[in-house]
Amino acid sequence: MPLPASATPQTPVPAHGEHAARAGSSARAPGRCWALVPCAGVGERAGAALPKQYADVAGEPILRHTLRALAALPQLQGTLVVLSPHDEHFEARVPQHAFDRRWLARVGGATRAASVAAGLAALRERGAEDLDWVLVHDAARCLLQPAWVQRLIDAVADDAVGGLLALPVADTVKCEEGSARVEQTIPRDRLWLAQTPQMFRLALLQRALAQAGAQVTDEASAVEALGLRPLLVPGAWENLKITWPADFALAERLLATR
Ligand code: C5P
Repeated sequence: MPLPASATPQTPVPAHGEHAARAGSSARAPGRCWALVPCAGVGERAGAALPKQYADVAGEPILRHTLRALAALPQLQGTLVVLSPHDEHFEARVPQHAFDRRWLARVGGATRAASVAAGLAALRERGAEDLDWVLVHDAARCLLQPAWVQRLIDAVADDAVGGLLALPVADTVKCEEGSARVEQTIPRDRLWLAQTPQMFRLALLQRALAQAGAQVTDEASAVEALGLRPLLVPGAWENLKITWPADFALAERLLATR
């Protein structure tokens, strides 16, 4: 079966000069927006031979799918990819024509929060300012669709705090006692699953991460720790984060339907 256009290896990811060139065509001006893609994890749970963001789905690396979706958003001034200082795969897996190397920072840390914090500092060096919006997106959420990001930007652009894509929990939620036996059932009516992108203003997010420390697993929880209430914006079930070995085949099947 032929690959869908979104999965064709030859399709280049537009460089960020193109982002800027198209920026004027946006119907709405939400303030300057940047994307930051933490990409310094090893993804042990995925069981791949190399860090999961470089493993292939539908014929090309996960990271390239992700970058292509972000590149389709004219509002983004640029997308900064945060790599581990020890990364040995990016150059080979994301060829020169597919990504503008000025938007690469080898400043990743030991945790996702450390990678994002270092990436925010690198974004400032590239011109981002206090009140600019930063959309942090997991490299491993490679099924991202530009329309979902647009929904987030539209919902959050006038918000005082910021927000994130998320999904209301559909299943009944169990908490285990430590040995795969249920300790309790948690009422699901007000539960949401956090996805990415998560969109906050640069200065607020830097302050939040500095105070929250390196262990928070998303940006929103750092902002919540300041006593603020990020906006939950409905995401999409398909916006899954490749995490487990079975996720690769699922992502491939979903891409094949586009
Ligand atoms: O491990 P997990 O799937 O939660 O990682 C989410 C995102 O954070 C991934 O894109 C991963 O590459 C990134 N990450 C990072 N630095 C780390 C750990 C994870 O940039 N030290």
